[in-house]
Amino acid sequence: YNQELIHHRNILFPGFTNDLLKIKTMKLRPDDTFIIGYPKSGTTWTEEIVWLVENNLDYDKSLKTSHFERVLFLDKEPIIKIDQLPAPRVLKSHLPLEYLPDDIAKFCKVIYIMRNPKDVLVSYFSFVKWLKDLEFSGTLEDIVEHFSKNKILYGDWCDHVNKYFSNPDVLFICYEDLLEKQMETVKKIVEFLGKKKTDEEIEKLIEFTSFHKMKTNKSFGMIPKDWNEFIDKFDFKLFFRKGQIGNWVSHFTEKMSDFVDEIVKQKINPKIKVRYLPL
Ligand code: PPS
Repeated sequence: YNQELIHHRNILFPGFTNDLLKIKTMKLRPDDTFIIGYPKSGTTWTEEIVWLVENNLDYDKSLKTSHFERVLFLDKEPIIKIDQLPAPRVLKSHLPLEYLPDDIAKFCKVIYIMRNPKDVLVSYFSFVKWLKDLEFSGTLEDIVEHFSKNKILYGDWCDHVNKYFSNPDVLFICYEDLLEKQMETVKKIVEFLGKKKTDEEIEKLIEFTSFHKMKTNKSFGMIPKDWNEFIDKFDFKLFFRKGQIGNWVSHFTEKMSDFVDEIVKQKINPKIKVRYLPL
């Protein structure tokens, strides 16, 4: 990694996280919704579902307005810009819970998405080559090593997940359930947001936010101009890479897999069920 990264309390953050410590004191509004996940856990997917639910299922606007303007990235955008957004705000973040305002989940809505860490690492490995801050040229095995040494962006995976899971006011969902128990999981989201949608409406929403539909939704290709500073050759068709459970099986050796299992076993809250393979 090059020097552009921010190191804070033993956690690495991307160099673009300018207002990292100001976020803690940002002004919250009761109608804010935060979508949070460790990088590559399905955050963008959840954001799109939530944005649509919050915006009266406005499919037309979803296709025409940049996703990154509809859902602002808290970690990257200046806090001044976030302050000026019209309500209701739907914000994305990868930050560990302790970097967000105290009692955030009591005051507004926080949805957290967890994905099994082996698929996260394969997805992260494919992604970090695009990040100019990182200029990463290593192997997946190096990434697995980074996982054990707290050198993945946004810190330790188990810590990240454990803290959100332990907060009773956070809606905690899993990528694997969103993919395989869609109706049930999207209903949970809709209910948590305090909205009412019919089964037909939810079915349409699931279809519209399916992997293949999102991959052809051009609003994900409309990235803000200043993002070119940190992201190289962003191709949203590559961002939507596989969208599967268990893709790690094609990339991990048995040794790498056992290594991750051992770390997770030692550190994860035993109440959290992590699913590594399709049902
Ligand atoms: S980021 O950049 O950290 O915010 O990435 P994030 O959005 O959290 O995660 C990216 C992975 O989510 C997959 N994805 C989806 N899977 C299933 N269905 C839908 N609709 C969907 N949208 C995004 C995306 O493909 C990345 O996973 P991989 O395994 O790389 O395909």
